[in-house]
Amino acid sequence: MKKAKHGGNIYEIAQRLSIKKEEIIDFSANINPLGVPKSFKKALVENMDVIENYPDPEYNTLIEDIATYHGLEKEYITVGNGATEVIFSMISNLKPKKSLILAPTFLEYERALLRSGSYVNYYYLKEENNFQVDEQFLEAIDEKLDLVVICNPNNPTSQLIGREEMTKILECCKKKNINLMIDEAFTDFVDDPNSVSMMPFIKDYDNLYIIKALTKFYALAGLRIGYGITVNVNLLEKIKDHKEPWTINSYAAMAGMVLKDKDYIKESRAWILSERAYFYDALKKIDKIKVYKPASNYILFQLLNEKKDIREALLQKKILIRSCNNYKNLDPSFYRIAIKNREQNEKFINAFKEVLYEG
Ligand SMILES: Cc1ncc(COP(=O)(O)O)c(C=O)c1O
Repeated sequence: MKKAKHGGNIYEIAQRLSIKKEEIIDFSANINPLGVPKSFKKALVENMDVIENYPDPEYNTLIEDIATYHGLEKEYITVGNGATEVIFSMISNLKPKKSLILAPTFLEYERALLRSGSYVNYYYLKEENNFQVDEQFLEAIDEKLDLVVICNPNNPTSQLIGREEMTKILECCKKKNINLMIDEAFTDFVDDPNSVSMMPFIKDYDNLYIIKALTKFYALAGLRIGYGITVNVNLLEKIKDHKEPWTINSYAAMAGMVLKDKDYIKESRAWILSERAYFYDALKKIDKIKVYKPASNYILFQLLNEKKDIREALLQKKILIRSCNNYKNLDPSFYRIAIKNREQNEKFINAFKEVLYEG
């Protein structure tokens, strides 16, 4: 199994360019530019001493906060060192023999599935369909599958499956006795998260597993905290039995409080709604690229009729973007960029035009 390359490696770039990592504007990782909620920062500073003790091995406070936020019972929740740990622990305990994932999609599903010995089928999303999941996807869900994994909105395409479509997929999986894992790491960034999230279906479908991250919307990527929800309590017990203790540290164990920060959530929603429209419109005006309309806080685009390595060219301007060349079903002409604040987005547009038209 190979190491997967992700966005956000500002350390490697800073070293290579002999600059400070703070000088780089990182468009390669999809993190809320509002940064860590102030209420949480304050709590961290005031409670620095919590690291003197082991965290609660049951993570009761954290799980209670998550349960309250979703209006669900505590026993349906498992927490992890980022959504990544939850994806790996759920998959390794589900032990699927045969699985289906999208292509392209977040790289860690494939790694987790291969590590667990699963055979992996791919549903190749069509460029002419803007990489959206179409009706034919239902036909790809055959009885021999044990698990279907869907990222919604999908990474790196920023395309969304609406609730109606997702319900059909869930029903289809249920009928065929297949588990469905939906990664909602980015659902909080869509126009109307409540009408997209499949959380309201969790109690009625024991084949449904939802993954959530606090690392993206609450800008806690370095803290590492995520969770998973399912009514399959047998699986959650197995996870507990097999899992290493204390993978979530005492600071991360406090992070459930961010879910109560209504001002931060409101401010973040206002930012994403306005910046997504602004950034998408500005990019659409650039004739050398095809931009895919984003549903999340990142944008996929393709460089048209150009052989330039624009990632490298932008790096010379201290701007880091995500090349999509290691995603299945995308070629090196595809790139993904995060939506950041207005000043940074404007800087990107100006630098990008320079690279495309002057370089
Ligand atoms: C779709 C998706 N799910 C999960 C993750 C992992 O999130 P975390 O940092 O919480 O492990 C990522 C990270 O990029 C992602 O893109």
